[in-house]
Amino acid sequence: MMRSDLAKRLLPWFSEHKRILPWRNSPDPYRVWLSEVMLQQTRVAAVIPYYEKFLERFPTPAALATAEEAELLRYWAGLGYYSRARNLQKAAQEIHREGGFPATYAGWRKLAGVGDYTAAAVASIAFGEAVAVLDGNVARVAARLVCESGDVGNAKIRGKLREVVQNQIDTLSPGDYNQALMELGATICLPRSPKCLICPINDICCAKKRGLENSLPTKLKKNRVIEEEKEFLLLRRGTQIALRPPDASSRRLRGFWELPHAGPGLRLRNQKQLGEFRHAIVNHIYRVTVRQAKLLGELPDLYEWISSDQLSELPLSTMARKSLELEVTSPAGKDKSK
Ligand code: ADE
Repeated sequence: MMRSDLAKRLLPWFSEHKRILPWRNSPDPYRVWLSEVMLQQTRVAAVIPYYEKFLERFPTPAALATAEEAELLRYWAGLGYYSRARNLQKAAQEIHREGGFPATYAGWRKLAGVGDYTAAAVASIAFGEAVAVLDGNVARVAARLVCESGDVGNAKIRGKLREVVQNQIDTLSPGDYNQALMELGATICLPRSPKCLICPINDICCAKKRGLENSLPTKLKKNRVIEEEKEFLLLRRGTQIALRPPDASSRRLRGFWELPHAGPGLRLRNQKQLGEFRHAIVNHIYRVTVRQAKLLGELPDLYEWISSDQLSELPLSTMARKSLELEVTSPAGKDKSK
């Protein structure tokens, strides 16, 4: 079996330069799957602590299958894109029912939340199936490799790029081949100022040859970002704090507890600004102001008083968590006006 020009260069480079990551020391399907799901839309450095804590609490699909949603969300809180956690659990239940993991790309593809990318990653890394992955990083590498100037967001162009990497896959080490391409995209073939000088495939790269490495790939559709202002209130009563329970109607933060929003219906005294922060969720950027105040009268039904020892049991939204941290760090927070 001859190695392709691409694989010949990638595999030795990968074995020397690959990052040591907690899911790389075992080809266990559950670990590979979990890491790949967490790595979608989230950077490696941010994933590692989540991955380790999650695996400790839910070491097997069976443990995950039977978890309470609130606990599951607590372990996912901060990673964002919570449908990933819910689908992970659904798929774990399917795996549990079937009595084991699917062993092929086609089998994985049928599980909840498992798309082309995840199925290809797990099938190649954990089962050695010769199916190429195409994530954003790999698409960029492939577009530069062959000087593809079409829009990498376009399905037809992505199909062409998938063919480029599939045609050169290493059938003996498809998992390493895929990971090497992803790793190259994450560490060398960067979106801006790629490090062509130290790139293991610079001698076969069309974009490098033609000086196009900074102008490829072409990305037409810019994601529109929506900026939104929010005001949260930190209302305390002794050791209790007012929180809003999960709201079935809020799609974005389904399952999470939030702080009360400033607005009518709450009579307040001694308002004091605790601080501000920005928080990005998908295509939203929230500019959040947090104020501390004393509540006059009753807490509206929408909210509940939660004691501080209950707090650690609840899935708190990341914005609520960041708000509570302001209380510790802000000078106004230390001077509590009870
Ligand atoms: N990004 C997502 N999954 C990856 C993997 N297995 N190797 C390198 N980068 C990745």
